[in-house]
Amino acid sequence: MEETGIKVEGLTKIFGSGDTEVRVLEEASLEVKKGEFAALVAPSGAGKTTLLMMLGCVLEPTAGKIWLGDELVWDENRWSIPDTRKIRREKIGFIFQAHYLIPFLNIIENVMLIPLTNKWPKSRAEKKAMELLEYFDIADKRNAMPSQLSGGQNQRVAIARALSNEPKIILADEPTAALDMERAVSVVKMLRKIVEEQNVAIIMVTHDDRLLKYCDKILAIENRKVVTKTQVPEGFV
Ligand SMILES: Nc1ncnc2c1ncn2[C@@H]1O[C@H](COP(=O)(O)OP(=O)(O)O)[C@@H](O)[C@H]1O
Ligand SMILES: [Mg+2]
Repeated sequence: MEETGIKVEGLTKIFGSGDTEVRVLEEASLEVKKGEFAALVAPSGAGKTTLLMMLGCVLEPTAGKIWLGDELVWDENRWSIPDTRKIRREKIGFIFQAHYLIPFLNIIENVMLIPLTNKWPKSRAEKKAMELLEYFDIADKRNAMPSQLSGGQNQRVAIARALSNEPKIILADEPTAALDMERAVSVVKMLRKIVEEQNVAIIMVTHDDRLLKYCDKILAIENRKVVTKTQVPEGFV
């Protein structure tokens, strides 16, 4: 069964106007199915982060349509619900280059935070967080603070946190950029495993062509449109 994870039609984003106008995307379209791991590659400034922020319902598009699963979340000029944080909390897991764990919460508290915000009972949030920490082989650090963990360990916790609300969509903006190659591969293999075992759709921005072999397809931004590549485009780093 090939269900839509993320679908975009005619997506346009223009910042500013007049002399300061920046056209980032113009009538861009793309689709990533559930169970599909897409890489997003493009030169710096091409609009990768802008695209992810619109898919994540953080930034308003200028025009177009965005579907997350079977829900039309952006329809030309409005979100499906006024409080987009709810869409984000319920449907999406975000992973960034920096882990952004909350420094004064311990590891398990960081992973429980979104489920608790979604009003899960504490016992269910705790069970989910422990499952994820075990899955990422970091459960022994559950009572440690983020400052006591290495960069690679914190990034594993950040991925656990991104999965804590059981999202069907994961948006990852250069999640491995701060890691060495070995840890980068280990993070990408984890994402691969999640795609296969949990039927999620992932878009991962990366500048590292050595990671592309773990992805099902390569999306690029060219001439303000999103295109699917069969091989690594020249000079995307
Ligand atoms: N809030 C903003 N206001 C004006 N221009 C912006 C804003 N955010 C991003 N841009 C511009 O949009 C373009 C795409 O930026 P970005 O999405 O960050 O690119 P990438 O992630 O591919 O490096 C750049 O030209 C950037 O300067
Ligand atoms: Mg960026």
